[in-house]
This record gives sequence, structure tokens and C-alpha cells, in this order.
Amino acid sequence: MEGEQLNTDQTKTERTMNLYERVYDYINTRIVRGEWSAHDRLPSIRELARIMDVHRLTVFKAYQLLKNEQKVYVKDKSGYFVSPINREESSKDYDKIKASIQNNMLSDIQQLPAHFQFSQAIIDPNLLPNHFFSEYIKKVFDFYPKILGSYSPLQGDDELRKALAEYFFQTEHLYVSEDEVMITTGAQQAIDLITDFLIKPRDTILVERPTYSVAIDIFRQKEARIVPIDIHASGYDLERVEYLMRAHKPRLFYINPTFHNPTGYTLPAEQRKQLVDLAERYHCVLIDDDPFHDIFFDQKPPHPLFLYDTKGYVIYIRSFSKYISPGLRIAAVCCRPWIMKHLCRAKSLSDNGTPLLNQKIFLHYFFSSRMQSHLEKLRIALSVRKEIMEDVLSETDWQWESPKGGLNLWVKVPEPTQVASLFQRSIERSVSFVPGEYFDSERTNKSWIRLSYSYANEQEIKQGIKKLVSIYHDA
Ligand SMILES: Cc1ncc(COP(=O)(O)O)c(C=O)c1O
Repeated sequence: MEGEQLNTDQTKTERTMNLYERVYDYINTRIVRGEWSAHDRLPSIRELARIMDVHRLTVFKAYQLLKNEQKVYVKDKSGYFVSPINREESSKDYDKIKASIQNNMLSDIQQLPAHFQFSQAIIDPNLLPNHFFSEYIKKVFDFYPKILGSYSPLQGDDELRKALAEYFFQTEHLYVSEDEVMITTGAQQAIDLITDFLIKPRDTILVERPTYSVAIDIFRQKEARIVPIDIHASGYDLERVEYLMRAHKPRLFYINPTFHNPTGYTLPAEQRKQLVDLAERYHCVLIDDDPFHDIFFDQKPPHPLFLYDTKGYVIYIRSFSKYISPGLRIAAVCCRPWIMKHLCRAKSLSDNGTPLLNQKIFLHYFFSSRMQSHLEKLRIALSVRKEIMEDVLSETDWQWESPKGGLNLWVKVPEPTQVASLFQRSIERSVSFVPGEYFDSERTNKSWIRLSYSYANEQEIKQGIKKLVSIYHDA
């Protein structure tokens, strides 16, 4: 009976997956579904090798992987057993998958455990200069021995704001004074604070379609009306933008114009200037959210929209989470005084200043020469990972526009694929990605998925994408 079941499972997967992965999947899926419970004895290596018609070493390798992931445990001379914690977590995960599909919570998806992680648009921690970081942390305590006894100034550390204002001038030609820079606890906080004072219920916000899903959630929370405008590889249809600005009088247009999340598209320089002109004409504030600016592969991207700002309608947010450290929670917001005034008030009610220690660590690390060489290496490592992912996908009929920077591939799977079902089956088999509809305020984009190449290593990308493709073919 079990043999028959396995034979039906042995479809196209068998051809494209490593044998031990097939065995791993077989065991893992049954644990996740609750068919095998905590402390249940699992089939012996010999038994499973016979049932699945594979070598015993193959089964041993699959069990080792499950053991490393603490999904199973071994008892001397008695064999393999289902881990209790894991069993509970697995069934919770399974419920979570269902709930997250229904609730559209991106954060839930990103927390789902998966051996092949393509849902997290964050840098593999192994690519961060962790050893160097500890040196800088020590230096900060030497320089500022009483740092833990001090609050940060509300708007951010003076030294850091001054250094960043100069840096933005040197690198992007932005004329911005230190008084026009605020340090926030990540870009997400900046978006939240800006909407706090700018948006009242039923105000209209223009957003790109697709867009960063957390921003959509923040805007919804403020009860804003969300109006989407499509973003293409070549930018926006500016006539359409103008039409929407005239028709809906939005207070805000939230954009991520450089190596956009999730598509990787970049708005050309000419359109940046035209967009600022439109925003000024229709009194619409533009938020240029720019966390991927320094993650380019060949060429530096165009300058931020703040360069073209003449009337104070542009707010520039530069997060450093994506290539320095997500955990430090450091972002800089550049804006003119009329906005800064409101921002300071919102910040004082929110956290009264970003932790000073984090700001000083960031300051000393970011402006070191080591950081520059780290960034060079990081760009190379990420472009190699992107190319590996693209190589595997090039054997399919899936479509994407190769990004020139950033962390993601935005991929169209052939219709009529049910992305929700592909997602569920993939998670069950330890492969994660983000279904495209999570990035859309209107829940279209049914045949797109976001695959991040930044978190998994090269080997995992190769194996995991092959596995995803085979899961797709198994439908
Ligand atoms: C477009 C965009 N903005 C902001 C953020 C959040 O940045 P932070 O970690 O600085 O809050 C992300 C993270 O994925 C993002 O993709």
C-alpha cells in the first residue's frame, strides 16, 4: 500500500530532485501533516530503502538532514523518532500556512520554516562582516564609555546626521543639511510616522502595483484609500499618474523607484524629474523609499528624487537594513523643515529617538574603509546568486526581467497555475517564496511570485529552485 502511494508520488519530481531530497520530503510531509506524531518511531533505514527503492545511504542522508533540522531524533539502537517540539511546531506551521494564505500576512509567510528560503528579502547573515562588527562595537564603548546611560537626541545622533548629510551630498549631490535628516528605527518606522501626521481616514494614497506589502498594511491601518498605478520595467505611464493625481488628489505617492521590491525595476532618471514636477503641480507628497540603492550589479542607479525637489514635496528614506544590518534598525529620512517639524512630533510620541548605541555603531562602521570593501564583495556575491537562480529558471518557461540590483526576481509562472496551491505544496516540502498577490493592494498578480536570492546560499539556490520547479510540474 505504502509502495503504491510512493509510486504515484514518483512522478516528475524523481527526475529532477536528488534522491535523498525525495526521501526527506516523504518523511517531512507526513510529519507536517500530522500523520506521524511526536515520539512515533519512524521506518528504519532498511525498511524505507526497500519501500522507496533507493540505497540505504540515501535514506541515511535524508535522516541526517532531518536530524540537523531537529525534526527527528535518534535513540541508540532503536532508530529514528519524531521530535516533540518540532511536531507541535510543524502542525502549527501547517495551520499558519492556511491562515496566512487567508489573511494575506506577509510576516507569517516569512516566518514559516523552510530549508530552501526564497521568501526572505534579507541578506544571508553569513555575508555580513560579523567579525568586523564586533571590533566596531568595542570601539564605540571606548569612545563613548557612558553611552548606555544616554538617550539619543530625538532627531538622531548629531554626528551621524552630519556625516550622512555630507555623504548624500558627495554621493548623490543632494543639498540637505543635518537639520533636514532624521534617523529612524528602520524605514518601516519612517513610513509609519509620515503617514501618522499626513494621512487622515479616507485620504488617498497612490501606490505602485506591485509594491512593498508592509507599506500597504500601514496605509490600510490609517484607513487610507489606496489607488494603484502599474510599474513596468520602463517606469510608469506618467500620463496615467497625472490623470490619477488630478482625479483623486492623493496626499501621498509612495514609491520604491530603485531596484523596486518585488520587481527589481528602476525608474529612469528623466521620469524622476517629471514625477517631481507632477507632485509639485498637484501638491502630492512623494515618498522615495530606497533601501536597495547600494546593491547594484554593474552600474550605479540614478540619483534619488530628492535631487529634483524644489518645493519640499519629496521625502527621501534610505534604509541601511539591506546591506549593513537589519538588526541595527537604522534608516535616514531627508525632508524639508515643514515636514521635519511634524516628523519630530510623531517620533517623540513613538520611541523618543532611535537607540544611540545602534547609531554610533552604524556611524563607525558605515564610514570605515572596511565597509566599502565589504560592499564590493557583497555585490559580487549577490549577483552570482542571482545568476545561479536565473540559470536554473532558464530551463523553464517562467518569465522575468533580469534585475540590475536588489535582492529579488519577480517571476511569472505560466497560467493557469494556482500560485496559492503551489505555495502550499512548496511549504509542505520545505521551499518558501512569496505569492505575488501579497504585493498588490487589489490582490491581482495571481500568476507572479517573488523569489529572493539573497538569503539562501548558492548550493541551496540550485537545489531549491530545481525542487520548486519539480513541485510545480507535479501539480
Ligand atoms: C521597499 C522596502 N522598504 C522598507 C523596508 C523595510 O526596511 P527597514 O528594515 O529599514 O524597516 C523594506 C524591507 O523589506 C522594503 O523592501
